[in-house]
Amino acid sequence: MSVIKCNVAFLSMVAAVSCAANYGGASIKAVTDDVMVAGEGPFWDSENNALYFVDIVKHRVYRYRRNRLDHAQLDGDVGFVIPVTGYRDLFVIGLNTTLASLRWELNKKTYQVTGLTTVDKDKPGNRWNDAKADVNGNLWAGTMGFMDAAGNVPTGRGTLYKLNSTRCFEQLEPVIPAVTVSNGLAWNNNGTRMYYIDSPTKRIALFDYDPVTASISNHRTLYDFETDGLPGVPDGMTIDANGDLWIASYNGGQVIHVNGMSGKLLGKLKIAAEKVSSVTFGGPRLDKLYVTTISLGVAREKYKDYPMTGKLLEVSGLGVKGTLNRRVQAKCFRPSLRIE
Ligand SMILES: *[C@@H]1O[C@H](CO)[C@@H](O)[C@H](O)[C@H]1NC(C)=O
Ligand SMILES: *[C@@H]1O[C@H](CO)[C@@H](O)[C@H](O)[C@H]1NC(C)=O
Ligand SMILES: *[C@@H]1O[C@H](CO)[C@@H](O)[C@H](O)[C@H]1NC(C)=O
Repeated sequence: MSVIKCNVAFLSMVAAVSCAANYGGASIKAVTDDVMVAGEGPFWDSENNALYFVDIVKHRVYRYRRNRLDHAQLDGDVGFVIPVTGYRDLFVIGLNTTLASLRWELNKKTYQVTGLTTVDKDKPGNRWNDAKADVNGNLWAGTMGFMDAAGNVPTGRGTLYKLNSTRCFEQLEPVIPAVTVSNGLAWNNNGTRMYYIDSPTKRIALFDYDPVTASISNHRTLYDFETDGLPGVPDGMTIDANGDLWIASYNGGQVIHVNGMSGKLLGKLKIAAEKVSSVTFGGPRLDKLYVTTISLGVAREKYKDYPMTGKLLEVSGLGVKGTLNRRVQAKCFRPSLRIE
């Protein structure tokens, strides 16, 4: 591991050294030749050793397993895919502004989509963006307004919702209204802290979390991209076994590593793609970092500097392990409860 920045402070005879690492020992490879338009939302399914992710613009849910890439072709913008506890063929997906289930068996090409409920009905053009399940499998999912060809998104048209496991699809609970681009979510291992990103704020927000009631309180900022003058905005994120965050930097060409308690910048992992969209740890030992990237809006001339644009990447040798990606609890999604 080589060091790119060190701040040395002398505190009463003790040298406290803080270094931001650049992970020189890590190796990064493209997993397949496919170029994603808007690769997003990687989820490592440790029960089946499969990586699921979406291409929002191509309307696809991808499955990468045993060196093979398959996809389900849907007919709307797909913001996220999360497996349901206890099933290897049942997923929750965000399709336009509809929350839907996807039935897709591991070894089959056919699949079935069932719409369950729709949000943001008063906001045409909105769509689902990133989503995660908390430590008990409660689904949190956010929306955003329509992105125009120049990449602009109207301010405050999105909402972060929570699925109430008692009321299920009667109504998703709006928890944080007036967000712009609802993005990364993460919880610490015991579920007492929730981290959240509304990308244009450039901040990682931190909340106290009550895992029993699945509720947030005490909003503050853990980390602000402005603090260290970082380019780009935060997008998707994941949390490692040490409780530290790995944050994709959209328009920043890197993944940021931030201490989950102190909010201190621990390192920057350069990625040869400008629009880095999301990250998750995976692999049988949870020691690989999977990184999704976006080619939408990247000018051809930039591919010289960013040859990994649009690729799904696998990073080895970081020397860090991740945490299990949480599935959504089955209660609201058992196939017998589905409205056919
Ligand atoms: C998603 O929205 C697009 C554009 O409005 C529409 O053409 C498509 O049918 C929608 N798909 C679903 C599944 O609602
Ligand atoms: C939960 O974990 C955090 C560290 O992520 C720790 O500070 C806190 O004491 C833990 N709380 C409980 C109740 O175990
Ligand atoms: C679900 O909604 C009910 C009724 O409003 C409420 O009492 C309960 O606390 C909610 N549960 C969660 C996990 O938010």
